[in-house]
Amino acid sequence: MKRISVFDTTLRDGEQTPGVSFPINYKIQIAKQLDKLGVDYIEAGFPVASKGEFEAVKTIVNLDLDSKICGLARIVKEDIDSALDSGVDLVHIFISTSKIQIDYTIKKSREEIINDSVEAVEYIKDHGRECMFSAMDATRTEIDYLKEIYKAVEEAGVDIINVPDTVGVATPFRFHNLIKELREHLKVPIDVHCHNDFGLAVANTHAAVLAGADQVQVTVNGIGERAGNASLAEVVMILKSLEGIETNIRTEYLVETSRLVERFTGFRLPPNTPIVGDNAFSHESGIHAHGVIKEASTFEPGVITPEMVGHRRRIVIGKHAGRHQIKKMLEDAGYIVNEEDLTKIFEKVKELGDKGKKVTDLDLFTIAEVVIGEL
Ligand code: KIV
Ligand code: ZN
Repeated sequence: MKRISVFDTTLRDGEQTPGVSFPINYKIQIAKQLDKLGVDYIEAGFPVASKGEFEAVKTIVNLDLDSKICGLARIVKEDIDSALDSGVDLVHIFISTSKIQIDYTIKKSREEIINDSVEAVEYIKDHGRECMFSAMDATRTEIDYLKEIYKAVEEAGVDIINVPDTVGVATPFRFHNLIKELREHLKVPIDVHCHNDFGLAVANTHAAVLAGADQVQVTVNGIGERAGNASLAEVVMILKSLEGIETNIRTEYLVETSRLVERFTGFRLPPNTPIVGDNAFSHESGIHAHGVIKEASTFEPGVITPEMVGHRRRIVIGKHAGRHQIKKMLEDAGYIVNEEDLTKIFEKVKELGDKGKKVTDLDLFTIAEVVIGEL
């Protein structure tokens, strides 16, 4: 089974999240963390965008990380030269190919778009760099034209083609068919870049890999334009745990990486976020907690453990808590309680839960100490 390459765009599409802008020291720390995590490519930014952006990309290139560094460029000489000057390993060029975007934004003929793309690929390859080509809005592009432009850049020597679902309108079944058709038409590695407008970015990325895609574009915590991009942690763990498909990601750093980006963006993840959210391995219901205490896979998927992603399992006390769960938590914390005291503690916890109160571990221990008479 082939390994899937992970292309992280937290520092480029992720930074296009409304309200997010990383100062250079944040960009450097995120790049180092992504390298520690083991991503194959870090899209460090869009060098032509500003002086600061150019400096940030160049600084990340000079960190000499194991991950390869990529810079984004429109199919415009100034953009491509700026990316080349920043020293990136891979220049990611993009151009609109859908009718709606051609008509309203670039206003070029389809032939011109193909010729400009081919010339850009040749120019980048002549400078000894890798080149990735994105047909922007691929999922709303007429299929024959899409195949024609990808074939033309393949013949020009492109290293990777990217299929962006720019406005997030793909669905897993249709995206699977599109990637399969492109896979049969092309020899060059295929990368996918999915947006989450309908909450399908991860599902579409998964479907694309099953259809033969070689590389996935993801961001930490799924940040990115509008509703964001496919979440790195979710895509990697779906491939690993549900499909047995490996990447180079050291999954034990997934939570640590997520927390760093949470801190630098200022966007707190909802606790029920899959894989890395606070509640991803937390159990409150007595029935679940009782099962999990005996054997974790009774009420967890089993093919993924908290340790695999750098998380921890938590038994949370609330009004759904069971006696067994409370007893186990108290015993783990060193309290020895008889059955009578346990009943009193149990009732107090339920009483607080019914009043809508959150019962923290500390609350539980305080209740226990009051009941036992230590307070
Ligand atoms: O969403 C998109 O199409 C992009 C391109 C630059 C690949 O981000
Ligand atoms: Zn995008």
